[in-house]
Amino acid sequence: MKISRVKAKDYSIIIGKNSIFTLTSEIKSHCPKCKKVAVIIDRKIPKRFLLKIKKNLKRYKIFVFFTSSSEKIKNFNQVSMLINKLLKLNFNRSDLIIGVGGGIIGDMTGFVSSIYKRGINFINLPSTLLAQVDSCIGGKTGVNSKYGKNLIGSFYNPKVVISDTEFLKSLPRREIICGYAEILKHAIIYDKKFFNFLKKNTKNILSLKNKVLTKSINKSCKIKLSFTERDFKEKGLRMKLNFGHTFGHALEIQNKYSNKLNHGEAVLVGMLIATKISKFKNLCSENTHNEILNLYKDSDLIKNVKKYLNKNMILKSIKFMRNDKKKDDDKISFIFLKRIGKTTAPGKHKFKIDQIESLVQRLF
Ligand SMILES: NC(=O)c1ccc[n+]([C@@H]2O[C@H](COP(=O)([O-])OP(=O)(O)OC[C@H]3O[C@@H](n4cnc5c(N)ncnc54)[C@H](O)[C@@H]3O)[C@@H](O)[C@H]2O)c1
Repeated sequence: MKISRVKAKDYSIIIGKNSIFTLTSEIKSHCPKCKKVAVIIDRKIPKRFLLKIKKNLKRYKIFVFFTSSSEKIKNFNQVSMLINKLLKLNFNRSDLIIGVGGGIIGDMTGFVSSIYKRGINFINLPSTLLAQVDSCIGGKTGVNSKYGKNLIGSFYNPKVVISDTEFLKSLPRREIICGYAEILKHAIIYDKKFFNFLKKNTKNILSLKNKVLTKSINKSCKIKLSFTERDFKEKGLRMKLNFGHTFGHALEIQNKYSNKLNHGEAVLVGMLIATKISKFKNLCSENTHNEILNLYKDSDLIKNVKKYLNKNMILKSIKFMRNDKKKDDDKISFIFLKRIGKTTAPGKHKFKIDQIESLVQRLF
């Protein structure tokens, strides 16, 4: 069993095949007074994982809550329902919530944990690639509102993250591509060497070859941490992680968070739009743009996103940027690319909605 541990300031991320079996010892060391454990688990996760988790929790009183993952149920009603259940069961702060699922369950259970009695122990077991390489890191928790995505939330770290790569075996390929999008983003914004590694290994990552997969998860976690640890509350630097996300979020809202376009696919589209604008504004070279585009083409990612790289579709989505969290006046802040491994500074490039519209008119 080859397991690696990435250390953040307040918690560790344990990565690898069968890392789930570290759960008992992690609970013992981080939650010594815990008596009750609430396991909030995505119902699509194969039952054998719940059995493994239960095996690790024999000494505790366990309560299992199955939940579905959809952006539509990632809301305050669901949070309130979970909190009422925990209150009824008289959970204390020294007890524990374990979230087992993708980014939706992780964000929601993290949020519940942060507000339940002003903060209960929380352990995250991310079960999608996107959650393992991105959403489990950095302490952002939250839910959606009718005004937009993730507008209600908190910053709250788990006691530990356990990323068992075995979870990924039951994940549909489309979801694996979603996680890969965030891995790619991390390489594009921070690490040219890692980008070159991805050029050679994308197909192996997408087919879950353990060695390259674990290496990519590990590397991705480290890159994300290098931003979030220096800017936990997203005052500046951390905004670089939003590369491709402003366009991506707008497209997701336009598609009503439906299955037609999921988060990672939206990010893939958003990164290409942002790179195209970077090239147009002479911030990055044509070569940089082409290197990224070629990676999409060589690894077949392009076919997942092609239909969204359409002028009318992008134009229609732009109005949904109004509620973007990166907007602090009537302008929206964008992160663009200088070269692979380096972005523009947060706050440097701000546009009004009509300026973005005219850019898209000219470029697509
Ligand atoms: N907190 C952060 O920093 C952060 C960062 C990025 C994304 N996010 C959030 O993450 C969410 C997206 O996360 P996601 O892509 O993991 O989505 P998700 O949680 O909806 O999971 C994707 C799909 O996979 C299924 N699933 C989960 N684990 C499975 C498994 N092991 N086997 C089979 N099916 C499984 C789910 O039921 C769902 O249908 C968005 O809400 C986004 O806002 C948060």
